[in-house]
Amino acid sequence: MSHADLDQTAKSILTDNDQGGYTIPTKGLYPYQWNWDSVFVALGFATFDQDRAWREIEMLFEGQWRDGMVPHILFRKDDPSYFPGPSVWGTNGGPIPSSGHSQPPVAASVVLDLVRGDRTGQALERAAALFPKLMAWHRWYMTYRDPDGLGVIAVIHPWESGRDNLPDWDDALRAVEVRDIEPYERKDTSHVDPAMRPHKEDYDRYLSIVAACRKVGWDPAKVAETCPFFVADPGVTFIFLRANRDLLVLAQQLGMGKEADEIRGWIARMESGAKALWNPDIQAHVALDLRTGKQTDGISCASFLAPYAGLTDTATMAAQRAHFDRMASKVRYMMPSYDPEHGCYEALRYWRGPVWAMINYMIARGFAEAGDPARAERLRNDTAALIETSGFAEYFSPESGAGAGGGTFSWTAAIWLTWASPSHVEQAA
Ligand code: DGY
Repeated sequence: MSHADLDQTAKSILTDNDQGGYTIPTKGLYPYQWNWDSVFVALGFATFDQDRAWREIEMLFEGQWRDGMVPHILFRKDDPSYFPGPSVWGTNGGPIPSSGHSQPPVAASVVLDLVRGDRTGQALERAAALFPKLMAWHRWYMTYRDPDGLGVIAVIHPWESGRDNLPDWDDALRAVEVRDIEPYERKDTSHVDPAMRPHKEDYDRYLSIVAACRKVGWDPAKVAETCPFFVADPGVTFIFLRANRDLLVLAQQLGMGKEADEIRGWIARMESGAKALWNPDIQAHVALDLRTGKQTDGISCASFLAPYAGLTDTATMAAQRAHFDRMASKVRYMMPSYDPEHGCYEALRYWRGPVWAMINYMIARGFAEAGDPARAERLRNDTAALIETSGFAEYFSPESGAGAGGGTFSWTAAIWLTWASPSHVEQAA
């Protein structure tokens, strides 16, 4: 397929997955509005319909909870093709039935991108309407996912990290007692080869965490205190630190002085807190179980988001480059979601090895901003090659390049349009 054909296919995927203002990740496997999927999708729409891009994010915030949280799934209608649906979550925090926790907060960064690339003349007005909602969400993160003011952001469920099945969660997940769950039937493995999905033991614990939080009514303070899973995640921490920097730029543009001061405080706390995620033995940022104080021992794709978060000190950058080059010598396509030399690496199982287009986009952006255009370009070329070879899959094998997981995937299409497509680069030049 030519690049122009791929551009056209990517647009069709977005418009086919459009449910009238919000977009599902893919039919069957993920039939609702997912938080960070939607936000990346907005970047794709922005390449051909900026009004629609804003609408995607505005509709996501329609589901914001009274306490500020923006849920990871909005169940706008019942769909029996997905489990666990709204009755399992048992939430009551917002105006739309939803899951009970959040997902990586990329929205402020994408809103700033929409403002910067605006051709509609309405961007500042729309950003101003979203700004208090973004502030409330970020304040919720600082309050309830960093309750002790450590400057690192915890996830209360592997699904809150967006990187569900990452080996980093294995120990903390194994410590979760399986209890209070009804017999259940998974739906994911009827859409996708079970060899590419989490195991049943993982699902039992995913549901046990949901049950534990449901028991405390999803009250965020009680969840922070009692949730059996509470792990500081470099992925969410770095994405959120970046989002805070971008929210600060928005606050300044909108003349929000008091809010800008508050955000500066969050940034300072996180810049210092990120040091707690540095594992000196492997020279990388890793996850930290806040219940046990134990760090993980593997390098995940999130370790490479430090430059995206603006953490570009000499030691971090030298370690990032060394790990990048070592991993690039082990796989054909960068960036594997887990270190291919780690014992837990699996090339095709969900988040235990595969390459994800939107992760590559964020890592590349960080590297480019940190003055490393060569590695950024390597990521862009690999992402383009994967899509050219295997289409708009959910994720890809870093070894063979085979597409895996769901097909005709919205965020893969969006990242193609906004970044990976050579025709996009030609237009931008
Ligand atoms: C799932 O159901 O696999 C989702 O990734 C949860 O967000």
